[in-house]
Amino acid sequence: MSSSSPPSPDRQYLTTPIYYASGEPHIGHAYTTFLADVLARYHRQAGRQVMFLTGTDEHGQKIQEEAARRNMEPQALCDAMAGRFREAWSDLDISYDRFIRTTESEHRAVVQAFVQRLMDRGHIYEAEYEGWYSVHEERFFTEKELGPGRTDPIAGRPVELIREKNYFFRMSAFQDDLIRHIQENPGWIRPEKRRNEVLGFLQNPLGDLSISRPRSRLAWGIPLPFDEEHVTYVWVDALINYLTASGAIRPDAEPGDQGFDDVAGSWWPADVHLMGKDILTTHAVYWPTLLMGVGLPLPRRILAHGWWIVGETKMSKSLGNVVDPLELRARFGSDPVRWFLLREMPTGEDASYTPERFLTRYDELANVLGNLASRVTSMIVRYRDGRIPESAGDQGLAQALDDTLVAVASGMERLRVHEALGAAMDLARVANGYVEDREPWSQARREGAEADLDETLASLLRALVVLSALFLPAMPGKAAELAAHLGLDTVPRLNEARTLPLHTLTIRKATPLFPRIELET
Ligand code: MSP
Repeated sequence: MSSSSPPSPDRQYLTTPIYYASGEPHIGHAYTTFLADVLARYHRQAGRQVMFLTGTDEHGQKIQEEAARRNMEPQALCDAMAGRFREAWSDLDISYDRFIRTTESEHRAVVQAFVQRLMDRGHIYEAEYEGWYSVHEERFFTEKELGPGRTDPIAGRPVELIREKNYFFRMSAFQDDLIRHIQENPGWIRPEKRRNEVLGFLQNPLGDLSISRPRSRLAWGIPLPFDEEHVTYVWVDALINYLTASGAIRPDAEPGDQGFDDVAGSWWPADVHLMGKDILTTHAVYWPTLLMGVGLPLPRRILAHGWWIVGETKMSKSLGNVVDPLELRARFGSDPVRWFLLREMPTGEDASYTPERFLTRYDELANVLGNLASRVTSMIVRYRDGRIPESAGDQGLAQALDDTLVAVASGMERLRVHEALGAAMDLARVANGYVEDREPWSQARREGAEADLDETLASLLRALVVLSALFLPAMPGKAAELAAHLGLDTVPRLNEARTLPLHTLTIRKATPLFPRIELET
C-alpha cells in the first residue's frame, strides 16, 4: 500500500478522537477506543513500540454551555469528566499510553505555536463572517447545507445565525494538493467507501476555514497568539492534540526557531487516526490542509468507522437509548463487551446493538472458545495427569494455525479488525472439529494408541497456546485466564506461541471461561 511517508515497521502511533468533556462515555466512544486498543495490543505483541493516544476535548461553546447549565466552572466540569473517561477506560482495560487534555499548558503552547506558524507563512487573514452555527457539532454550516427546518444536517439540532469578525485559514489554497494526495495514496482513507465520500466532497470548491471566535462571545478557548481578543476555534485546537502528544513541536524553542524541525525524533506522523464517520471531514480535510499549511507530514492512515445504532434507531441522549458500556461490563465483564463491539461491527459499516445480538456473540464465545478450552484441558488432566510427553508430535493442526496467523495479521494490518477476530474464532472452531475427528476418548480406550492420543492432545494444546495469543488484543483478561490454565505465567507473544515447548507445562482443568448467563427480559 502506498503512503505519503514511509511506513514505520517498528513503531506505531495510534490515536482516537479526543472526546468532548461534556457528556458521559457511551458505547460509541468505547468502540473507537477498543478499536485503537486492539491495534495497540496487537502491535505491542508483535514487538513494535506503540504510542496509543486518547483524551478529552475541553474547550468550546459546547463545554462552556454545559458547565453553565450545571452551574460549574468549565475547568471543574472538564476535570470531572476527564476523570470519568479515565475511569471508564481503566474499567474497560484500555491500554492507552497518553491521555491528553486540551486544557493542559503544553497543549496550549503548541496550539499557539502552530497558529503563529500559519500566520507567519501567510495562510491566515481576517474577515467578517456570517454563517449558521451548530453548538452540537461545534461548526458552521452554509444555508445550503442546513437540514429541514433550518437545523444542523448531522444531528438535526438547532443552529444560530452568527455574524462576526473571524480569522480564516486559507484552506482553499490546499484543495488541489489534498485531492492529489488522496488520489496518489489509495489506502490513505479507509475504508474505500469513506475515501470516495471525501473525494466527492472535494469536487465542490473548498471554502476557507474560520479558525477563531471572538472572546466576547466565547471565553473558553486558547487565545490566538497574535490577537488576545480571539480564541482558537475548538476543532483546530482539538486536532492539534495529535501533534502535542507526538512531541514534534517544542513551543519553548529558541526565538527564530519555531521548534517545528524535530519531527524525526518524535512520534509524528501518526500511523492511524481512528474515528467515527461523523468527524471524517474534520480529519481528512481540515487537518491535512492545516498540516500542509505549517509544512508537516500528513498522518499515514485515517480510519473512519460506522455508527452504532440501537435496534433500528440512532443512539441519542434525547431519545434516552444510550447504551452504557459500564453497565454491560458490570453484568458480563469487560472482555465480552470488547468482543461484542469489535466482532459485530464490520469495520466501516454501521451496526446495531440489541441485547439478543449481544447474547448470540456471548454464546459463541462460550460454545466455541470456552468449550474448546474446557474439554481440552480436562482431557489432558484426565488422560495424562496434566502433562504432555516431550515426544508427542503437535503438528495435527499446524496448517490451520499457520493460515490463521497470516489471516489475523492481514486483518489487523488492513484495519479489518472484525475479520482478524473472526479468523481467530474460526481456528477454535476447527480445533473443536479436530476433537470430533480424532475422538481422543476412543484413543484413550484403544490398546497401542498412546502415541496417537499424545499427538491429539499436544496438537490441541498447541492450538490453545496460539489462541491465547490471538485473543489477547481483543480480550486481554480472558487470554490471560486461558494462559494460566495452560500453566503459562503470561500470554505468549505471537512468534513464541507456535514453538514454545509444551512438555514443561502443567495443565489445570479450566473453570469455564464464559459462564452461562441468562438475559433478563
Ligand atoms: N471532540 C470531538 C473530536 C475531536 S478529535 C480531534 C468529538 N467528540 S465526541 O465526544 O463527539 O466523540 C465523537 C466520536 O465518538 C466519534 O467520532 C466516534 O469515534 C465516537 N462515537 C460517538 N457516537 C458514536 C456512535 N453512535 N457509534 C459509533 N461511534 C460514535 O467529536
